[in-house]
Amino acid sequence: MPDSSISRFFEKSRKERLDIVASFASLSDEELDILQSDKGGISFDKADKMVENAIGTFSLPLGIATNFKINGKDYIIPMVIEEPSVIAAASKGAKTARIKGGFEVTADESYSIGQIQVLDVGTSAIQQINNSSNEILQLANSKSNTLSKMGKGAKEISCKEIDTPSGKMLIVELLIDVGDAMGANITNTMCEAISPLIEKITDGRTLLRILSNYSTRRIVKAKAVFEKEAVGGEKVVDNIILAFEFADNDVYRAVTHNKGIMNGTISVANATGQDSRAIEAAANAYAAKSGKYRSLSKWSKDDDGNLVGTLEIPLSVGIVGGIANVHPVAKVCTKILGVSSAQELACVMTATGLAQNYSAIRALATEGIQKGHMRLHARNLAAAAGAIPEQIDEIVQKMIEEKKISLDRAKELLEQI
Ligand code: MEV
Repeated sequence: MPDSSISRFFEKSRKERLDIVASFASLSDEELDILQSDKGGISFDKADKMVENAIGTFSLPLGIATNFKINGKDYIIPMVIEEPSVIAAASKGAKTARIKGGFEVTADESYSIGQIQVLDVGTSAIQQINNSSNEILQLANSKSNTLSKMGKGAKEISCKEIDTPSGKMLIVELLIDVGDAMGANITNTMCEAISPLIEKITDGRTLLRILSNYSTRRIVKAKAVFEKEAVGGEKVVDNIILAFEFADNDVYRAVTHNKGIMNGTISVANATGQDSRAIEAAANAYAAKSGKYRSLSKWSKDDDGNLVGTLEIPLSVGIVGGIANVHPVAKVCTKILGVSSAQELACVMTATGLAQNYSAIRALATEGIQKGHMRLHARNLAAAAGAIPEQIDEIVQKMIEEKKISLDRAKELLEQI
């Protein structure tokens, strides 16, 4: 099994990095070409079919986080993000977690929830729907032979009443096992297909028929133990727990703390072509599930004083259908991850969020985040000035000592070497 703890990956040339990735993930020459093409992954023709009024495409940096061990398996993780430090932070968090075995993650099966709003119904509507649930499920399942053949598809119908300024409303919810798909399309199709039958059964009027992005039947739970010494000792462990308590009890801090988690999770979502808006909307609702917006992760220590982090989020992702099947770079990224199910991808994305959160709050509870940011920024400038790997450290060190971090200064220092 390949080892994801690749020493000094950041110092390697692009070609060396690509060679490592290609050998780790057994990429074909064609897949390697896709990563090297620098054309942003999709042609204008494809873009023009994906959205309206297209005028071009838009590309972002794609990097690799190293060191990840999740449920005993090594992963290198493609991340698409515009922000510096995030990929380094994820790799660093994963490196520390690895000492104690890495991340343990479980994911629910992929059940999507569709909602149908039913108005003007009588008091026996819920009973009527329950009595006809088999017929409704059968009609829903007639919309997907693929899911039905796999023993998946619509599984349950449930009803709830909500109070609104316009009076009570009946909400019918359809629970669908969508397998390895994100499932938005099939959920919406099934909801629309069953709504005339629901109207007939209840003698009511259906209005909205749509997937809920609050995917509480797709919960992912990640845990990692960070060895006390590697974290920086008892005091740092305690300070990280205090940092967590700040986030868990103050919404202004909680939003930023959870944003750090999303830095990790959404970068992998971007790389693999997921609907990042759905993921973030669900995660934020979940953070407020107690009635108060809190931290999505929890930090404590075990009997030996090691730091223990857990992260629980709803995560609706797919490896079949959607853009994941259309975007060539997303396809290669999914291959680099080596995930064989939507649940496995969800586990990787959650572990990345937890690693990211660890590194962010560790930095904040110790030296602050600017030092690391500036060092990385200086490295990028040194490389942009044309420095080769052996020259970078010296230029970075000088710029930091002089507190003059700029491309011009990097060029001057390079000339002096
Ligand atoms: C920056 O993108 C993310 C952080 O602000 C997260 C945090 O404060 O925990 C560093």
